[in-house]
Amino acid sequence: MITDLFGIDLPIIQAPMAGSQGSALAIAVSNAGGLGSQPCAMLAPDGIRKELQAIAASTSKPFNVNFFVHKHPAPDSAREAAWRRLLAPYFAEYGIDPDAIAEGPARRPFDDAAADVLEEFSPPVVSFHFGVPSAELVKRVKSWGSKVLSSATTVEEARYLEARGVDGVIAQGHEAGGHRGVFLSDDLDTQVGTFALVRQVVRAVNIPVIAAGGIADARGVAAAMALGAAGVQVGTAYLFCPEATTNPLHRAALMSDAARTTAVTNVFTGRPARGIVNRLMREIGPLSPVAPAFPLAATAVFALRSKAEPLGVNDFTSMWAGQSAALCREMPAADLTRALAAGVST
Ligand SMILES: Cc1cc2nc3c(=O)[nH]c(=O)nc-3n(C[C@H](O)[C@H](O)[C@H](O)COP(=O)(O)O)c2cc1C
Repeated sequence: MITDLFGIDLPIIQAPMAGSQGSALAIAVSNAGGLGSQPCAMLAPDGIRKELQAIAASTSKPFNVNFFVHKHPAPDSAREAAWRRLLAPYFAEYGIDPDAIAEGPARRPFDDAAADVLEEFSPPVVSFHFGVPSAELVKRVKSWGSKVLSSATTVEEARYLEARGVDGVIAQGHEAGGHRGVFLSDDLDTQVGTFALVRQVVRAVNIPVIAAGGIADARGVAAAMALGAAGVQVGTAYLFCPEATTNPLHRAALMSDAARTTAVTNVFTGRPARGIVNRLMREIGPLSPVAPAFPLAATAVFALRSKAEPLGVNDFTSMWAGQSAALCREMPAADLTRALAAGVST
């Protein structure tokens, strides 16, 4: 079990969720005996340092720090222009000048500057999404003793990660909320459900497998462990916790019947991610061939979101959610961590 690998009491990882949580959620989960996670994909080095200082000040328990490892694409003005043409009716509706759109929040890949900050803290666990960084960066992270994890959405990805020295692989089933970790293929037909994926990955690799996707209660945890998982990573259920910074419109949608209908979409960032179906997904997606490469699609949509959200309108808000959102309810993160762990037989 991952309890031995990380020195934690409960084999429950709180999924890192960029944009929906900071250190408060990670601290609550780590102090309850699980593995709390700090997402850094949307933080500059100073922001990472601030969050890690808060964690270091509030828990002596192990925690995880998470990064995206995409390659930043070269801007493509023809594609961006086509994207803005597709969004033109919405810009008109909100009185936005498409030629005067400011940059949205950045999504940064892991790099040496982020590693410099990590080195100050030597976090017990570092996890990656969308693959692994260069061999040099992995070596650097391991040099100060961090265990390294990354997400796999196929057996091929799990084998690829194992060959590059990760200490554990997160098998992310198609039910999962948020960005698909997929990195070896653009073909979404390769994406299978947690039940099928976990069993196959367990057979394919010799490192611990952590199940993720649609796990939201003790029974789900028990099922994942029965399939051979060494632990679970749970995201959506933690969005309901008071310690999460879930956007109020997102939180309201999660608590409504709308949360029963999710889809994998690329219209918010350019990369496939599962979220609650809303107007933008319905009208131009859920998958649009016009969307610029990740993360460039986000800038134009962020301009719409910034106008719509103050009016209480979630039409342009990415409301990431897994397929088990309807199983969840609001509770403190420590209680949720313990409730999930009740599914682990000792
Ligand atoms: C709101 C949200 C944000 C997410 N952001 C990240 C992230 O920053 N890094 C990451 O590795 N995974 C991210 N994920 C994916 C999770 O790691 C995990 O695969 C997923 O939450 C598991 O499925 P579940 O939501 O059904 O529990 C995110 C998921 C959600 C719901």
